[in-house]
Amino acid sequence: MKIAVIGTGYVGLVSGVCFAEKGNHVICVDHDKQKIEKLQNLISPIFEPGIEELMESNQKAGRLSFTTDLAQAVRQSELIIIAVGTPSLPNGEADLQYIEQAVIEIGKAMNSYKIVATKSTVPVGTNEHIQMILAMNTLESFDVVSIPEFLREGSAIQDTLEPDRIVIGLDNLTLTEPLTELHKPFTDQIFVTSIRSAEMIKYASNAFLATKISFINEISNICEKVGADVTEVAKGMGQDRRIGASFLNAGIGYGGSCFPKDTDALIQIAGNVDYEFQLLKSVVEVNKSQRYKIITKLEGSLGNLSGKLIGIWGLSFKPNTDDIRYAPSIEIVETLIRAGARLKLYDPIAMDKFRAHIDHPAIQWCESALEAATGADAVCLLTDWEEFKTAPLTQLIFIMEKPILIDGRNVFTHEQIDGTGIHYYSVGRPDQKHVTRHKAVV
Ligand code: UDX
Repeated sequence: MKIAVIGTGYVGLVSGVCFAEKGNHVICVDHDKQKIEKLQNLISPIFEPGIEELMESNQKAGRLSFTTDLAQAVRQSELIIIAVGTPSLPNGEADLQYIEQAVIEIGKAMNSYKIVATKSTVPVGTNEHIQMILAMNTLESFDVVSIPEFLREGSAIQDTLEPDRIVIGLDNLTLTEPLTELHKPFTDQIFVTSIRSAEMIKYASNAFLATKISFINEISNICEKVGADVTEVAKGMGQDRRIGASFLNAGIGYGGSCFPKDTDALIQIAGNVDYEFQLLKSVVEVNKSQRYKIITKLEGSLGNLSGKLIGIWGLSFKPNTDDIRYAPSIEIVETLIRAGARLKLYDPIAMDKFRAHIDHPAIQWCESALEAATGADAVCLLTDWEEFKTAPLTQLIFIMEKPILIDGRNVFTHEQIDGTGIHYYSVGRPDQKHVTRHKAVV
């Protein structure tokens, strides 16, 4: 199929590249000239393992190109995929202005029948709104369908090439066959629904995953008080197939570009039809407070944080991405600065983005995990990067002022900590205190 993808953010770029990989001819469109120039030179504007290799092979095969010319791309294509951003408005509602602008431009450019698919996450009813805007801007015939995207940052290529399922929301049933054929190379698990159900499936899925995380985080808080170990509890729960093992890792809560935005939007969507989504409101509140557990643990072991030197391992909202949007690290760092602490920050790739967001004289920017730990009164692990899992823990006792490690993602096992002399605090697990060895005299 000939496909135009409008918007080269995470969803648009990854979808475009993966549709090309499956043999379609894809033109990716963006207004941002610099972004398109980068893409034409096979440089990805997002950090995503494996994406540049796929961009290169598909561009060489003549199946993938990049342009700022939306009209030309629309005219050449049978399927137009809208994948522009839907950021949050101050009240939590999704801001649809980029979608509306794209739809007007698509309508004006259309020269024959087109299928217009929405991949951006949009509130229920938006696709009908899109139909209306299109009708006002073209005399050509068209169909609007909703094909929500479930990819995760950091494993976006694999999630798209081998998804658990594909949901296709359509109201014109004659499209079932061509759209199923288009998606069959990805998976057999294709679920065709009404447009409104497809729109709802995306929000409900993200809200449910966020609920699992807040649920296990609350369980972890209770575990701390009753002396249970949340990792064992989660494992025991997850073995029940009705519950499932994934998304039961307790920690400092979720961040990222989807969960915070989509949970707020769903609360708002419910509110607009006079329904109070009480459960989801609590999920959001629990998530907001969970990140402060790190501060409480720091104060518990160091007392007043004023003047203390704290090493921070990890700034991105999760590993394998440089994305810091809604990352718990932001509020943790801001709170520590307000408390008068001095900070040594390190992240394998998110440092530049974080620095562009927060820069402060209390912050030292470090080039390695060990540098961030050197001289520190405590180290807080905020992102579960592989690099931290294999950090040389035995060295901490020699380089830190006080060997205190607060593990906000339960990365280490007690066996790994045993014998290192580290005072180790994690989330929802019994603390392990060790006799402090004296620092080596160098
Ligand atoms: C999510 C959804 O998984 C994806 O389907 C949707 O399309 C977009 O939103 P993403 O935001 O990329 O994807 O990240 P994900 O891997 O889902 O993690 C989200 C956050 O939850 C991260 O901050 C992560 O650290 C946290 N998390 C995840 C936990 O705290 N515990 C867990 O058990 C799982």
